[in-house]
Amino acid sequence: MSQDNAASNATQGDAFENLLHENRQFPPSDEFAAAAVAKADLYDEAGADRLGFWARQARELLSWDKDFGETLDWSNPPFAKWFVGGEVNAAYNALDRHVEAGLGDRVAIHFEGEPGDTATYTYAQLTEQVKKAANAFESLGIAKGDRVAIYLPMIPEAVIAMLACARIGAVHSVVFGGFSADALRNRVDDAEAKLVVTSDGTYRRGKPSPLKPAVDEALAKPGHTVSNVVVVKRNGEPVEWSEGRDVWWDDVVGGASAEHTAVGHDSEHPLFILYTSGTTGRPKGILHTTGGYLTQAAFTHRNVFDLKPETDVYWCTADIGWVTGHSYVTYGPLVNGATMLMYEGTPDSPHQGRWWELVEKYKVTILYTAPTAIRTFMKWGKEVPAKYDLSSLRVLGSVGEPINPEAWMWYREVIGGGRCPIVDTWWQTETGAIMIAPLPGVTATKPGSAQVPLPGIEVDVVDETGASVPNGSGGYLVVREPWPSMLRGIWGDPERYKDTYWSRFENMYFAGDGAKKDEDGDIWLLGRVDDVMNVSGHRLSTTEIESALVSHEYVAEAAVVGAVDETTGQAVVAFVILRGSVSEEIDVVDTLRAHVGKEIGPIAKPKTILVVPELPKTRSGKIMRRLLKDVAEGREAGDATTLADSTVMQQIASSLKR
Ligand code: WTA
Repeated sequence: MSQDNAASNATQGDAFENLLHENRQFPPSDEFAAAAVAKADLYDEAGADRLGFWARQARELLSWDKDFGETLDWSNPPFAKWFVGGEVNAAYNALDRHVEAGLGDRVAIHFEGEPGDTATYTYAQLTEQVKKAANAFESLGIAKGDRVAIYLPMIPEAVIAMLACARIGAVHSVVFGGFSADALRNRVDDAEAKLVVTSDGTYRRGKPSPLKPAVDEALAKPGHTVSNVVVVKRNGEPVEWSEGRDVWWDDVVGGASAEHTAVGHDSEHPLFILYTSGTTGRPKGILHTTGGYLTQAAFTHRNVFDLKPETDVYWCTADIGWVTGHSYVTYGPLVNGATMLMYEGTPDSPHQGRWWELVEKYKVTILYTAPTAIRTFMKWGKEVPAKYDLSSLRVLGSVGEPINPEAWMWYREVIGGGRCPIVDTWWQTETGAIMIAPLPGVTATKPGSAQVPLPGIEVDVVDETGASVPNGSGGYLVVREPWPSMLRGIWGDPERYKDTYWSRFENMYFAGDGAKKDEDGDIWLLGRVDDVMNVSGHRLSTTEIESALVSHEYVAEAAVVGAVDETTGQAVVAFVILRGSVSEEIDVVDTLRAHVGKEIGPIAKPKTILVVPELPKTRSGKIMRRLLKDVAEGREAGDATTLADSTVMQQIASSLKR
């Protein structure tokens, strides 16, 4: 076995080396380049005057109620202020101004529900709905600065609720609908939300699936700050009702006035909080503000996807609960006046061709999705997409995790017919918008590499000491200069913001990702260097799942690692030591998986739980996850000489054999 593993490690190593000497390149066609939105001179302009470049973008892409003075105030790093003194309304920019410009009849959202029901919102209709929702939220006592939790499936009301908050200056905190009641409650408490917007439920694989019961459970214990719950009727299933607290969306929004004037908010007014996993147990509320965020979301959406708002039909498959759903479903596309598709369901319902059927039906031109989805489609086979007409597609995007060159090539050939540029986009909840990506029409693309920092973005790869590494070497990904859509902090915890991102290297933002520069200087992302896992493009913290496991009465100790997984990128593998009192009869694994699902959400459920007698620890008591990763990935465990008890790895191996 050890020889096989040595061999497979060697092959993996070779594959890795090949990957970094990728010599396939796909330059844009002359035709594409000639019509492209982005031109190479953007790099020159930003290189010569970075702040001037961003100031121009801010003024050209957004309509300001009051122009800004200074472009960047960096006098108190790492706390940035962009477009100082400017006033701007996100909802006005996403909606009203397009209607005022005579584009009211342009479709903003084509909605396709999982059961096949459809709805269309023109810019005029979406504007009206957002105005009504803004009035409705105000009538429920929501004012500028108040926090609103949005816990909804992928339905238009999610976008409407976000923009209604933005319009009145309320700060939205979208909580992914797949999170549990406990996770929702933690987020509601941390942000002290006054309002929750939810729905009776949604549909999953052809059946109604509930959502409101989780809200009821989350708010069952007193001590929260929520005064109302607005409930969208989506699947029509019966729900429990808390009189005085719960109100139907149709009543409160449906009955509201459609007159609402948007006023400008300060450029640095908080727009939203979005929780994400970090290296410690508690999720962090990442704070984004208005002017800088909107500028970079709009700039990147237009240039990285080569958006032609008059003719494109854009589809980003991300859920609204993740940052991609914020920047590239709600804000970027609507600020740019794009027409988008929004789909409620899963890719395999009712059949594995659903996505491609949608591309054909809506003539989607730009598709933005995640490598995990592409790998799933690869598994299902190219015969599935081959049944549909995908000739409308012209740009394909990828986000969430490194895309392996095979998946990249498959995406290019099978989905893109060999003619669509692929834009692999690196960014994070914290960066707010895309940071590294090729520009279609400009960059010759390379399978597997996110390649180049965008104009105006100073990304680098550095060694342990913070020195820039030469081409051909690896290290840590950092950002050297502030950027418009950077996080402004962690909600309620400025120290944690400094510690997490700005203390590892002096004067640089530490992203938490490993990266390598190839011989051409192109950047390859190599995954997280901290205890954050990436499962299907979703960020999960090892510590958070360990805390969930040890909170169960059966568990004495737990260690979690992310093991390589063909489809999901990484999979959660947990090693647990049970308490002596646990009877052998009990199905521990199922119980613990369900427990993690309840504590965090189904996405966090370990794929594998291994019951072990001991965990490998150093003399100072630190768990050596590296050794557990070896076990989880089926390799002979590596160097174990620093273990306090050198027999632990044998004990684990023999217990697993049993
Ligand atoms: C990873 C998602 C490689 C990375 C927008 C980052 C990527 C984390 C890529 C952020 C990519 C995202 N190539 N890795 N193109 N895009 N990542 O906050 O590890 O959910 O730090 O934001 O995903 O995940 P988040």
